[in-house]
Amino acid sequence: MYLRKTILATGVAFSALATANFAHAEPTAEVLHWWTSGGEAKAVASLKEDFEANGGTWVDSPVAGGAGDAAMTVLRSRVLSGDAPAAVQLKGPAIQEWAEQGALADLNDVAAAEGWDDVIPAAIQDVMKYEGDYVAVPVNVHRVDWIWANPTLLAKVGADSAPTTWDEFNALADKLQAAGITPVAHGGQPWQDATVFETVVLGLGGPEFFQSALVDLDEDALNSDTMKAVFDQMRKIRGYVDADFPGRDWNLATAMVMNGEAAMQIMGDWAKGEFLAAGKVPGKDFICAATPSENGYLFNVDSFAMFNVSGDDKVAGQKLLAELIVGEKFQETFNLLKGSIPARSGVSLDKFDDCAKKSEADLQAAQEAGGFLPSMAHGMALRGHLAGAIIDVVTAHFNSDMSSDEAVSRLVEAVELAKD
Ligand code: BGC
Repeated sequence: MYLRKTILATGVAFSALATANFAHAEPTAEVLHWWTSGGEAKAVASLKEDFEANGGTWVDSPVAGGAGDAAMTVLRSRVLSGDAPAAVQLKGPAIQEWAEQGALADLNDVAAAEGWDDVIPAAIQDVMKYEGDYVAVPVNVHRVDWIWANPTLLAKVGADSAPTTWDEFNALADKLQAAGITPVAHGGQPWQDATVFETVVLGLGGPEFFQSALVDLDEDALNSDTMKAVFDQMRKIRGYVDADFPGRDWNLATAMVMNGEAAMQIMGDWAKGEFLAAGKVPGKDFICAATPSENGYLFNVDSFAMFNVSGDDKVAGQKLLAELIVGEKFQETFNLLKGSIPARSGVSLDKFDDCAKKSEADLQAAQEAGGFLPSMAHGMALRGHLAGAIIDVVTAHFNSDMSSDEAVSRLVEAVELAKD
């Protein structure tokens, strides 16, 4: 049955593979992920449905917690106890870290049969491969540097669009606050603080500064007046959030914008997935705008890595899942729900909204201008311990009255220690 369904659904290439290696295996996959918010759950359900429609048995292992910190903790303990899940939502340099440990299965046979080298952009291939072997598959391209705004609240202070400079951002936030409106919806969790921080680094410093400070960890960039200005801006933003922000989940902050309890949220486009899941229409019920920057674009590519597991059924499940994920159909269906755009090249955006089209257009412009940069807050730019060192300082500053000078010197020190 599995083979027949596979032949029907996906054509000959994968079936030939399945015939050769797993003719009798019923594909099954335990999938560890952190997609538990309204929009995320709809998106991951589309993968589950696709997998099941192709004969797979899906064992769901969701671990709630934005940006996956909790999921990564569970993953470590599962692998340590010799019980790795078959497929794991994993991204950026963490893929390399797990591959170095010998924990990941290679997917080269599916890659060859499906021609991945021709349809996955080279920059994304680099992240998915370890020493030339495919060990992960890309799901999407999320953009991090967005503002999500409530047009009705903006109109109350005479604004009909989102700010295009950080000075305008502050001026608008001041007006909103004076009108009794919470300017910024925010959840006080380290990764959310870091998400806001990196958009400010990009905006105030520019793409080259972002690259030096948060990718290359250049000491001069970290220890600069520009970085001080970034912390000054973070202090301002801290003044624009409501009193209940500590610990709030990101999707609850999105709901505040949706429900007219706050005017703007700085968040990646998984927030759009929340608006869409609630039936909201872009351009009418909510505005999407890039956070102020000169042709910047902070990318965050979700992907799945396949861990070494034994059992033909599990291995067949991994291969089927990998094949489906890179497939054109899945890349369209999933990303329409998730708020992101396809990672696979050549997938039409005809069915996508204007926010997605803007994402794609800005991505191209950023690539040409040198502003296409990996997100630090979302594990694309740095290994975990280095990003962690930065995020700790950002959060400590945001949640105290620490001066910008102090934050800069702590940042320099924390990064130096983490590098050793
Ligand atoms: C992931 C998104 C996810 C978001 C919130 C990001 O790091 O890339 O897929 O929706 O965290 O959980």
